[in-house]
Amino acid sequence: MPATVVIGLQFGDEGKGKIIDFLAERADVVVRFQGGANAGHTVQVGEDLYAFHLLPSGILRKRTLNIIGNGVVIEPAQLLKELEEVRARGHPAENLRISDRAHVVLPYHKILDGLEEALKGGLGAGTTLRGIGPAFEDKVGRFGVRMCDLVDPDVLREKLRRFVPIKQRMIAALGGSDVLDADGIAREHIAFGERLAPFVTDTSVLLETQLAKGKRVLFEGAQGTHLCIDHGIYPFGTSSNCVAGAAAVGAGIGPRHLGEILGVAKAFTSRVGAGPFPTEIEGRDETAVHLRETGGGEYGTTTRRPRRVGWIDLVMLRMSVRVNGLTGLAVTKLDVLGGLDRVRACTAYERKGERIREFPASMRVLSECVPVYKELKGWPAQSEEEWEGIARKGKRALPDPMRRYLTFLEAQLKVPVRIASVGRSRAATMSLGR
Ligand code: IMP
Repeated sequence: MPATVVIGLQFGDEGKGKIIDFLAERADVVVRFQGGANAGHTVQVGEDLYAFHLLPSGILRKRTLNIIGNGVVIEPAQLLKELEEVRARGHPAENLRISDRAHVVLPYHKILDGLEEALKGGLGAGTTLRGIGPAFEDKVGRFGVRMCDLVDPDVLREKLRRFVPIKQRMIAALGGSDVLDADGIAREHIAFGERLAPFVTDTSVLLETQLAKGKRVLFEGAQGTHLCIDHGIYPFGTSSNCVAGAAAVGAGIGPRHLGEILGVAKAFTSRVGAGPFPTEIEGRDETAVHLRETGGGEYGTTTRRPRRVGWIDLVMLRMSVRVNGLTGLAVTKLDVLGGLDRVRACTAYERKGERIREFPASMRVLSECVPVYKELKGWPAQSEEEWEGIARKGKRALPDPMRRYLTFLEAQLKVPVRIASVGRSRAATMSLGR
């Protein structure tokens, strides 16, 4: 493992945190390179559950260096809160470094997120309201405040003095009534900057040094390919690039360093937020309830909204394999399908009598697509302990129909399944070793 990128292949919430935690055991460095506090990575250690939004998932391992790269947008109060939480639970978290080029999410970004969403009506993505879109808008529009500014009170004051009145006008123009206090924001953020300053550095240089020493680096993707600003279901995705190539840009290294590209897919599909979802099983359908409620429940880690659920979509996943250049697959939540007689996989769409094999760009076309399913035999439900026992024994202990399901996925997607996960705990994650 020189440098491995872990990417979500669906709509986020694929269980990447758990796969990353599994791989972090062998990693020297874990890097977040895009997104922000909209991400929610759940990591379970023994009985303890941790939900990270900004902290990289290797933070609980003392010897692992954790980097928040330039491609991430950082809400300082949220980051400090997470740091305090892990410290309170016995983890010193001194192994963190933050890029001086990462952008800062400011209070007005959250206000604008809410106002923009409300005005968009049916074209709203159902955002996490963490200010992500407006923060990336400011980055591209060159209204941004970066971490190097946050730790420099003079520059911070100057930027806020110029930008806050502009944002105030925007808030009013969008129908908002919030009143911004530039001095208050500056004071609060100067204090945040003082607390975060020990972690802020040029992480591109740091990472280059680590790679030159042959350290094993793990790039931790947030969200998923189909939420990507370029390759996702626009405009219902997020505002950053969530694909493997973004790891190089968002961490400040050259793409030649990216070796293994591991894509994480759930054995079914789920999402929070709006947008077309061809394989969705709607309403209180028995299978939908089964998928949502089994295995800890399908509720967004960041917003706790119930996730929409449906069958695995191979049209969607074929695109994910392509745009990420995947070298391997990790399939999660296989245990959740346990207890269903038959499981389905969408192999193509049909629209107006035509077979569609490539994921369409147009949301109108996508919403008219009807899934074509292949049905496979299901496997029995098991207790958490039973699944862990199976995971310990390895691939041969998997129920036959599950093994056939994985072989079917490999044949359809033309990528080997390297990791399978059959439960929430670390013990339920198994390497299939190819
Ligand atoms: P935003 O990233 O908060 O702007 O939200 C845009 C869309 O992406 C919404 O549909 C969110 O529900 C979705 N989203 C953002 N981050 C995540 C994530 O980490 N997991 C799942 N969905 C996400």
